[in-house]
Amino acid sequence: MQILTLGNELLRQKAAPVTNIDGELAKTALEMIEALKDGKGVGLAGPQVGISQRIFVVHIEGDVPRVFINPSILETSQEMVKYEEGCLSVPGIWIEVMRPKSVKVQAWNEKGRPFTLETDGILARVILHEYDHLEGILFIDRLPEPKRNRILAKLDRKVKA
Ligand code: NI
Repeated sequence: MQILTLGNELLRQKAAPVTNIDGELAKTALEMIEALKDGKGVGLAGPQVGISQRIFVVHIEGDVPRVFINPSILETSQEMVKYEEGCLSVPGIWIEVMRPKSVKVQAWNEKGRPFTLETDGILARVILHEYDHLEGILFIDRLPEPKRNRILAKLDRKVKA
């Protein structure tokens, strides 16, 4: 699976709801988990692999791979925490981003089973990052303006180089 990078307009579009959780979608989810492994990432969303649909996968160390289809963020904590983030679609950039400490999310898995998950730590962080991808939001958008501009300028120089 090819991973799209910053500049591709699909990354900026709001992804459409999944209308049918079938064998083909389950296969796509598996391929996304494989692509995640290859890319040494912890999360990957549909739009990043050219699928503008509301699906993302998360696989953090010591945990099982998880598939989220048509997710809804039900709750986030008031408490915000800083944590270093990167993104397979924004290669070479690692930067601290503020996000809620914990999250409660509802979604369906690749077998079509609904589930609710309440979590914090790295898992919450990755879920919120991947959910943003479905909305066309990238982690650099979560930075304060001056910091964001510095990063964009740096990326711009890289693109032109
Ligand atoms: Ni990302």
